[in-house]
Amino acid sequence: MDDWTTSHDRVLAQRNAEGWMFFFEAARDLRTTGAVAPSSKKLARLLTDPVQEHGTRPLNVLEAGAGTGSVTRALISRLSPASRLDIVEANARFASQLRRLVRTHSRLAGEGERVRVHHALIEQLDTGRPYDVIVSGLPFTNFTPAQVDTIMNRYMELLHPGGALTYFAYRGTRYARVLTASRAEARRHRSVEHVLADYQRRYATGCWTVWGNLPPANVWQLRRPVGVPAPAALGLTAGATR
Ligand SMILES: C[S@@+](CC[C@H](N)C(=O)[O-])C[C@H]1O[C@@H](n2cnc3c(N)ncnc32)[C@H](O)[C@@H]1O
Repeated sequence: MDDWTTSHDRVLAQRNAEGWMFFFEAARDLRTTGAVAPSSKKLARLLTDPVQEHGTRPLNVLEAGAGTGSVTRALISRLSPASRLDIVEANARFASQLRRLVRTHSRLAGEGERVRVHHALIEQLDTGRPYDVIVSGLPFTNFTPAQVDTIMNRYMELLHPGGALTYFAYRGTRYARVLTASRAEARRHRSVEHVLADYQRRYATGCWTVWGNLPPANVWQLRRPVGVPAPAALGLTAGATR
């Protein structure tokens, strides 16, 4: 066997193991994990496109909800030299896996301190740093509308003016929820979509569909306007479910 075959086999085995890990964590807590499989390379690429806009300028980048690291890998390989990446992950097992990824990633040899993994909720993170790019992998449609509003507002506060936020939403989840969940759950889901729609209306600069993902997903890109103060949290509309 040549070197390429063995390293290729190793990568495949590692991806397989991560796929299983993700699946088991989803079985343990589907609400927080929010998916049964990691994001595809296509989805990861689109989510991380804004880090390439600035050429070789050093950036501060934040990734929230990194799971087993499929988007993290794309971020690390696209980061310009001297850029810094903060990764926030709520699940302790995923956080350990992400620390391993950072320790062993060939692009970070000798400079692993540029990337930090925080085992925390994004709501509690305070690095004291504003960001040029935020990539969010959080399963918003599993959260309460109030939680989503708090997090989106925090993202906008954390962004530099002109900075970009990307996040994704699986397609068709509202219909699945209507068919499989209680009316209260379907109502909560709709309210979350309303909160997100409000941020999209004010800040969206693009939305794309990635069919090559399980399930297919929409990727949203939002931007904090230049010369406008960070938004105050939206008041929840009457009838919104918490
Ligand atoms: C849908 S998975 C996405 C994982 C990865 N980004 C990907 O695309 O494959 C959502 C991730 O967000 C994490 N998560 C959920 N709520 C969180 C929170 N409040 N703060 C930080 N991470 C959270 C979950 O543990 C999970 O790893």
